[in-house]
Amino acid sequence: MIQLTIQKLSTKTLLSFIVALAISLVLFLTSSASLQAQDSNRVSGLEKAEGWQVVEANCTECHSAQLITQNSGSRVVWESRIRWMQDTQGLGELAAEVEESILDYLAANYPQKESGRRPALLVELMPVNPYAPKID
Ligand code: HEC
Repeated sequence: MIQLTIQKLSTKTLLSFIVALAISLVLFLTSSASLQAQDSNRVSGLEKAEGWQVVEANCTECHSAQLITQNSGSRVVWESRIRWMQDTQGLGELAAEVEESILDYLAANYPQKESGRRPALLVELMPVNPYAPKID
């Protein structure tokens, strides 16, 4: 009799667990579907252009994608960064078509800029410096 109640209870528990799991699955699927509607991936920040998944899969294991998105360069520059990571940081060989796809994506979405730095602000536009020497 007691065993039967326990059995009933655990079937009920199991059922509610399955229902909860199903609900979470639906929520997860709908939230990832709405993520896909945006231009960039909210998790990695990568531009959602052709080939972004290949970059996410191969380039975010050791460091954040921000290290990629804050950089820019021509195809040659991007290739030199990959070689540098292969020579000094333990990045393995990439299959030729994977590397092609990554370089196409990076050169198209994070291309060479004329300058990576903004010009310095005019002194008048700078915040007040409380430690500036007093001139009288
Ligand atoms: C095996 C680990 C590893 C993988 C995988 C990896 N990187 Fe890196 N990467 C590094 C390390 C380590 C650094 C140096 C981090 C630092 O400076 O703090 C770095 C730095 C960088 C930088 C900054 C370089 C600079 O000039 O400052 C860029 C851009 C970059 N990686 C892009 C990529 C891209 C694109 C891929 C995919 C092809 C990739 N990384 C995959 C290890 C890796």
